[in-house]
Amino acid sequence: MDSFEFNKIAMAVLGTVFLVMGLNFASDGIFHSENPEQKGYAIEVAEASTGGSEEPAGPAFDPVTPLLASADATAGEGVFKKCAACHDASSGGANKVGPALYEIVNRDIASVDGFGYSGALKAYGEGKQWTYEELNGFLWKPKKFVKGTSMGFGGIKKVQDRADLIAYLRGQAASPAELPAQ
Ligand code: HEC
Repeated sequence: MDSFEFNKIAMAVLGTVFLVMGLNFASDGIFHSENPEQKGYAIEVAEASTGGSEEPAGPAFDPVTPLLASADATAGEGVFKKCAACHDASSGGANKVGPALYEIVNRDIASVDGFGYSGALKAYGEGKQWTYEELNGFLWKPKKFVKGTSMGFGGIKKVQDRADLIAYLRGQAASPAELPAQ
């Protein structure tokens, strides 16, 4: 090939390289966002990390309170299948691997007679009840919410699933606890 043709090809290649670089640069400027402010989800990345490190600032999980009034207890009964191997939530239900859960909403934490709670849950629950949001946090990630709990369950990621489940648990009572003010 003569040098003119070579030059043409070289220019074409170089041109392409510059074009791609330029596009990259421009799209960086357009799409690069310094600070994605998604609340909540950043934490899920840290799922595998254990051991004492504090959560980053900001809400670690979404509240169920705004969802409870319209939550679906029937769907929650489906979610409860994840719990049923270890818990009975029916009236007069016995302790299994985990304590009986009948009337769990607003019940004192770690208060079922004859159940061998972990020291961690007993200490955590000192003077506290299973309010809707306490349940929400515990069911979100038991071992993160109460470090050292013996409840061997990973947790329920979706806030809607937790809301439905808690609505179901609320119904497992002679007179269901009042719904929280929103
Ligand atoms: C593998 C067995 C297991 C599974 C599955 C499980 N739990 Fe538990 N749960 C336990 C154990 C064990 C404890 C006692 C924890 C402690 O003492 O630290 C417990 C404790 C609890 C408590 C505290 C009760 C109290 O009396 O203070 C609640 C509430 C609870 N579980 C709800 C649930 C729900 C809802 C699910 C399903 C999403 C679930 N658990 C799934 C074993 C389990």
